[in-house]
Amino acid sequence: MMFNRKTGVAVILTLAIIGGIAATKPPEEHKFQNLKVLPKKISMQDLGKVMDNFKEALGVKCNFCHAASKDSSNHHLDFASDEKPEKNIARKMYKMTAKINKKFFSYNKGETGEMMPSVECMTCHHGHEHPTK
Ligand code: HEC
Ligand code: HEC
Repeated sequence: MMFNRKTGVAVILTLAIIGGIAATKPPEEHKFQNLKVLPKKISMQDLGKVMDNFKEALGVKCNFCHAASKDSSNHHLDFASDEKPEKNIARKMYKMTAKINKKFFSYNKGETGEMMPSVECMTCHHGHEHPTK
């Protein structure tokens, strides 16, 4: 596609408008079906951030933890399903990580209020599904 100034300006304006809407809209509330460790009322955006974080920390795609949809007419994942054992392992790992932070890092505040480093999935996994790899 030829990029001329006019389309360029139009694209920038459109992006500015979309950006403006996104910035003024309150975080979207979404009903997830099967949350056991994350807050039930987590927004779509925050859940997305958590999932991206899992994905990067383990160096996997969404389907590492999420089973394929039973509906064979699509290639979607059934995010609410607990069919894949990896999903439940991830829940345990999430609880373990929270416990480590709470018990040993005092929610990231040291005794004198200084910031403490926290433990995350990445701390052990370093981009690998199995930390010892
Ligand atoms: C390392 C495992 C893992 C990976 C990778 C992962 N997820 Fe998840 N996902 C989970 C777990 C665990 C839960 C359930 C959290 C809970 O019980 O509170 C979940 C829940 C969800 C839910 C909520 C489903 C519902 O209605 O209950 C959605 C949507 C979702 N994930 C999307 C994604 C997407 C999109 C990706 C890829 C970008 C992804 N996940 C990658 C582990 C994973
Ligand atoms: C303190 C270190 C540590 C942290 C933090 C940690 N993990 Fe793990 N994780 C491990 C170890 C060690 C194993 C391998 C356990 C085994 O082989 O039985 C593992 C295994 C897993 C597996 C199974 C992988 C496979 O090959 O089947 C998943 C899924 C997983 N972790 C997800 C997570 C997620 C998501 C987080 C962050 C919420 C996380 N882990 C945080 C150490 C950690």
